[in-house]
Amino acid sequence: MTAKSRNERRGPLWHKDAVIYHLHVRSFSDANGDGIGDFAGLTQKLDYIESLGVNTIWLLPFYPSPGRDGGYDVTDYTNVSPEYGSVRDFEVFVTAAHQRNIRIIVELVINHTSDEHPWFQSARRARADSKERDYYVWSDTDEKFAGTRIIFIDSETSNWSWDPVAGAYYWHRFYAHQPDLNFRNPIVVEELLKIMRFWLDKGVDGFRLDAVPHLIEREKTKSENLPETHALLKHLRRTLEETHPEVILLAEANLWPKEAREYFGEGDECHMAFHFPLMPRIFSAVAKASSKPIKTIMRQTLPIPDDCQWAIFLRNHDELTLEMVSEAERNFLWEKYAADKRARLNLGIRRRLSPLMDQDRRRIELLHMLLLSLPGSPVLYYGDEIGMGDNIELGDRDGVRTPMQWADEKNAGFSNAPPSALALPVIANAQFGYAAINVKDQEDDAHSLLNWVRQVLALRASHTAFARGQMRFVKTDNDSVIAFVRADGDDRILCVANLSNTAQATQIGLSKFNGFTPVELTGGAAFPIIEHKAYAMTFQPYAYFWLKLDKNRSAGDLDAE
Ligand code: NOJ
Ligand code: CA
Repeated sequence: MTAKSRNERRGPLWHKDAVIYHLHVRSFSDANGDGIGDFAGLTQKLDYIESLGVNTIWLLPFYPSPGRDGGYDVTDYTNVSPEYGSVRDFEVFVTAAHQRNIRIIVELVINHTSDEHPWFQSARRARADSKERDYYVWSDTDEKFAGTRIIFIDSETSNWSWDPVAGAYYWHRFYAHQPDLNFRNPIVVEELLKIMRFWLDKGVDGFRLDAVPHLIEREKTKSENLPETHALLKHLRRTLEETHPEVILLAEANLWPKEAREYFGEGDECHMAFHFPLMPRIFSAVAKASSKPIKTIMRQTLPIPDDCQWAIFLRNHDELTLEMVSEAERNFLWEKYAADKRARLNLGIRRRLSPLMDQDRRRIELLHMLLLSLPGSPVLYYGDEIGMGDNIELGDRDGVRTPMQWADEKNAGFSNAPPSALALPVIANAQFGYAAINVKDQEDDAHSLLNWVRQVLALRASHTAFARGQMRFVKTDNDSVIAFVRADGDDRILCVANLSNTAQATQIGLSKFNGFTPVELTGGAAFPIIEHKAYAMTFQPYAYFWLKLDKNRSAGDLDAE
């Protein structure tokens, strides 16, 4: 297929309408019965993914890897780990996804490789001034780039590690087994472009650029977000677009909005970037019954270039990062959501959405409504649509990466292998185990969380205001109620929610919409017409509404009794 025809099939700027389902091949579905999820299993589950109403899949790394960081430690960038199948299986998966109009975003673990990667093995053995050595960042001392923070503070004490074979220190922003590539070396940049073209030719639609602020380091700086790094990203985009104009770059940059925004450039850098600071503030807002945390961060979020889009999320495969909050706020969120200290990891919380919300359906729905209403393409983490739990006993972040719970069957219907052979154990406790929480039961239950998620995703898809619209906060006289309008032309949706656990009433400043009738989206009921400056609304605990502001519909007069 030519680039042009591919683009036509996808439509322009598809990333702005993306609803992304984020999953780990390893934990999704095991087709060959060896206990490890694979591409054949994932392909079989595409009908399920399509039925959710998402249109994009983001895959965790599936490349050959010793697996010491969930695959973010790659040894071969142009291959599929044999555990997950072959490159051919990957192509079959991509074709099947595209037939369903589902796009694929893959991980580009661009900042570092595994220390077992042949590049690193050659580099450490090569002469100090050789081409091979120059693939990585070396030093005779461990004092260079001293202004650079450590990210994995629970496991690393320095960004330098001594390599006895090379007789030098090598630089690593993450685990010591993940040496950073040297992007000041044009040969490394060429290698990267080759890798990207390889996967684009296999049909992928975009890349999540892992750890992208850390690509280049410089003395006397924090070695993050350097102009050199932005220049490199612009170069990658420009070069790739010559052959693959449809490619989408999604920046993983855990930064304040102002710095994260820089990854869009002037519309010539990344197409998307995660909005990291919004995420913990959604959890703060519901914990404090206050709209302030969300309003404040959204007000700090400057407009982005027209063709760009934020990616927003509640949970993902990592800890719920609290890097982008103050220390006081972090302590508050830790106390609130990770009273059990085993749930804390680095500067975050390694728990899934449903346990964080005490399995309270009202709060789980509320958080989803916010995720689907705020500006950006929402990213849903596999299993959260059925309210899966986590396993705090597992190491690192594995507790939030357990096998998908398909049915109340052996191994949760994930695999036929003996339970001891599973990549990670299935969750089996009474509250969150697969007997209580699984896809099959929820498919059969019209009121399940799964079916609710499907309904709201379908609703969202039928209103362009959510994906494309402007956002304006609306005044309320009750801080526990958050209210904003998303508007794209005539498609205007009032999103309003009670963030507290008690009933609330508020007056909402909707004078701009005098004469409009709010129509509730899920059931189509007309609410009283907006007549006065202040519009009164009442809410049950954690209740929310999506209300289409309809100019032409009247709620009708009351009959005389
Ligand atoms: C960010 C990824 O999301 C995380 O899982 C990984 O450990 C680090 N980058 C290092 O690659
Ligand atoms: Ca398998």
